[in-house]
Amino acid sequence: MKLLENIFLILTILIPLFLIGLMICKIKTVKKKKTYRNRLLTLVFLSVCINGIIFMSLRLYNEKIENKPPEHENKNENKTDEPDRNDDPNQIDDPSSDPSTSTTTTTTTTTKKPTTATTTTKSNNSTTVSGGVTSKGFKVEVIDGITYIDGYLVVNKTYSLPSTYVPTGTHKKVSSEICQECIVEEAYAAFTKMRNDASSAGLNIWIQSGYRSYSYQGGLYNSYVKRNGKEAADTFSARPGHSEHQSGYAFDLNTITDAFANTKEGKWVNENCYKYGFILRYPKGKDGETGYKYESWHLRYVGLDLANKLYNAGDWITMEAYFGITSEYSN
Ligand code: DAL
Ligand code: ZN
Repeated sequence: MKLLENIFLILTILIPLFLIGLMICKIKTVKKKKTYRNRLLTLVFLSVCINGIIFMSLRLYNEKIENKPPEHENKNENKTDEPDRNDDPNQIDDPSSDPSTSTTTTTTTTTKKPTTATTTTKSNNSTTVSGGVTSKGFKVEVIDGITYIDGYLVVNKTYSLPSTYVPTGTHKKVSSEICQECIVEEAYAAFTKMRNDASSAGLNIWIQSGYRSYSYQGGLYNSYVKRNGKEAADTFSARPGHSEHQSGYAFDLNTITDAFANTKEGKWVNENCYKYGFILRYPKGKDGETGYKYESWHLRYVGLDLANKLYNAGDWITMEAYFGITSEYSN
């Protein structure tokens, strides 16, 4: 569709140019100059209008497709109710309330730990709200409401992102509520490499759902609560502030359905994504650790080092098990 859009844009420019050129060349040789000129100018006008309208329609259509909300995560039709949760959008997660975390200290820091493999640094006035270590001895830092464990940004049911958090350094700058390509550049580059290699193997993978804002996630989650009930929704959709999609490090591939796991693409991704620094964030049978059902399509970028450790010959170790942390809502 993008190609068609470009073709009509070129036609909108080229046809009038061609007609005007024709008019300039031939005007001397024709008898009824005025009629000839008027006819060509009418043609120019009509071609600009028709091609322009087609171009604009294609453009609007393409934009609509790009911004289509994810079908989602999922086909779970179980209905159970749970009392409403009152999310505080400004809530800062406190690892000390996590039983897996021991000591809590309040310190001021001048740098933010790299989130996975990035080298972002923070300005001098950043404040570490709290810290500590996990049950497995990994360092926990909460900087401006964002939790880093062993330097990796962690988002799950226990650890949230502030409502105002928007990733920076993304392949495409975040300027809307949802955006497939608004993925942290390093992760996006890894995805591109993975997509190209998949393509060489005759497979087609694409990002179906990338960045999602806090408020978009809220709307999505609420729609599932309405459809499936809160208890069920909590098994496959994150509450606002608790979705990795807000971090710019995660995305959903291809079709967001259980069937993806059994497609050639799904199998290839499961077996190969770690080679590019991605992990299957919600592996099969690890609901008790991650807090979510199996999602064969949801990848999280953590960099090669951690991805290699978590791959575990296909029996994925979850971030929760590896770091020794929980994924549980406080209410
Ligand atoms: N489906 C995952 C858990 C999310 O909503 O972020
Ligand atoms: Zn996802």
